[in-house]
Amino acid sequence: MTPEEQRTMNIRSIAIPPLTPDLERVLIDADTIQRRVNELANQINNDYADITEPLILVGVLKGSFIYLSDLCRKLTVPHVVDFIAVSSYGKGSTSTGNVRLLMDTRENLEGHHVLIVEDILDTGYTLDYLVRNFHSRGTRSVNTTVLLEKPDRHVVPVDLKYVGFTIPDVWVVGYGLDYAEKYRTLPYIAEMKIPTK
Ligand code: IMP
Ligand code: MG
Repeated sequence: MTPEEQRTMNIRSIAIPPLTPDLERVLIDADTIQRRVNELANQINNDYADITEPLILVGVLKGSFIYLSDLCRKLTVPHVVDFIAVSSYGKGSTSTGNVRLLMDTRENLEGHHVLIVEDILDTGYTLDYLVRNFHSRGTRSVNTTVLLEKPDRHVVPVDLKYVGFTIPDVWVVGYGLDYAEKYRTLPYIAEMKIPTK
């Protein structure tokens, strides 16, 4: 192998990590994600074109951090970035919908336009909790964006404003989403082989 071939191979293998045996297939590739994130950013730029003070983007840790960082760099409307951490218990068939606040935002949300940025809407418990919680703080407006949603899994109705992709009821990883902290930084979204809900 020539040095040039070696170099190109290294770049390729860094840019597109191969599927491991745990992963069934690539569901959404990196280019498709970027195109969709651009479209969503354009919609947000249009919808918030007239705001006079910064929109507060609240990313739900950890899953949203890659989506949020790509999205915010495409925003032309004034905005600030903040985070919140929640944990939910009893996922899957025994879902109880208990959501606990682990870390609050640093910004005081009162009187502000807020956009909650989430990786995926599954049962809806997390976003439902956050939307109601933020409304109770006297926010000026609360909207939501999720990169992914699984319509088959919804338990609580949530008003989603900006949705990236609708996906089937499979466990997905990559682009921020994990399985037991694995695969979170894959540049694409892949389906796990074994359903783990
Ligand atoms: P919900 O409260 O049931 O809507 O749960 C949403 C949270 O569950 C997301 O923020 C994710 O952290 C996690 N989640 C749900 N489905 C998946 C998945 O397929 N892959 C990774 N995380 C998921
Ligand atoms: Mg999450």
